[in-house]
Amino acid sequence: MKIALALDVENDKEAYKILDEIEEKVIVKVGYLLFIKYGKELVKSIKDRGFELFLDLKLHDIPNTVYNGVKASIEIGADYLTIHTLGGREMIKKAVEAKGNSNLKLLGVTILTSHSQEYVNYVKSQYSLEDLALNLAREGILNGLDGIVCSSHEVKYLKSNIDKPFLAVVPGIRLVAEKTDDQTRIATPKQAVINGADILVIGRPILQSQDKNQTIKKIKEMIDEART
Ligand code: C5P
Repeated sequence: MKIALALDVENDKEAYKILDEIEEKVIVKVGYLLFIKYGKELVKSIKDRGFELFLDLKLHDIPNTVYNGVKASIEIGADYLTIHTLGGREMIKKAVEAKGNSNLKLLGVTILTSHSQEYVNYVKSQYSLEDLALNLAREGILNGLDGIVCSSHEVKYLKSNIDKPFLAVVPGIRLVAEKTDDQTRIATPKQAVINGADILVIGRPILQSQDKNQTIKKIKEMIDEART
């Protein structure tokens, strides 16, 4: 069980301040904003400080372009990288081919949690949001992805319906069940672990806390509690 800190801050100064403060060697998840603005330099200092690097770039393009994106991510030291399973089977296969024997873990994104039934109508699907998400997750894993990004509530359903082990990477974690921010399907670390999560993606509960190291310690205790 690992913790991925979502480094969702506005600029490099704030990012470095947090990286200097965090003692635990967590996974650090970098999204578009920081990556586009501070790219290589920031990811290098994440790795130099001994953190694992999670590039949350949600690649979605023609197979060859995604292949090149995965190769470049490996070159800059990414340990985890997200791609959109909606990109199709050939795109997924090319991403897996680019990964080769490297240690990179490729994670599939299915239907974003911001989508609703309206999206299903938009893509003119006859299937429900849940069925689409399961189908995309299954395609991703059976074609060689290492994990799937999903809510805590979906983990059991996905794991019991996909005939191959995979990493369930779960955002939407809150230490107290009532505090939701803009998340809709939240879970506590304990609930997520019980449901079968393998990596917890946590941003604001750590970033906005007074003592980030203490909060991480508390999360680890909640994880241990769930496992006993
Ligand atoms: O601050 P918070 O803990 O809500 O951050 C969660 C992180 O997980 C953010 O970086 C967000 O982009 C990401 N994420 C999410 N929901 C998804 C997929 C990713 O919240 N379905």
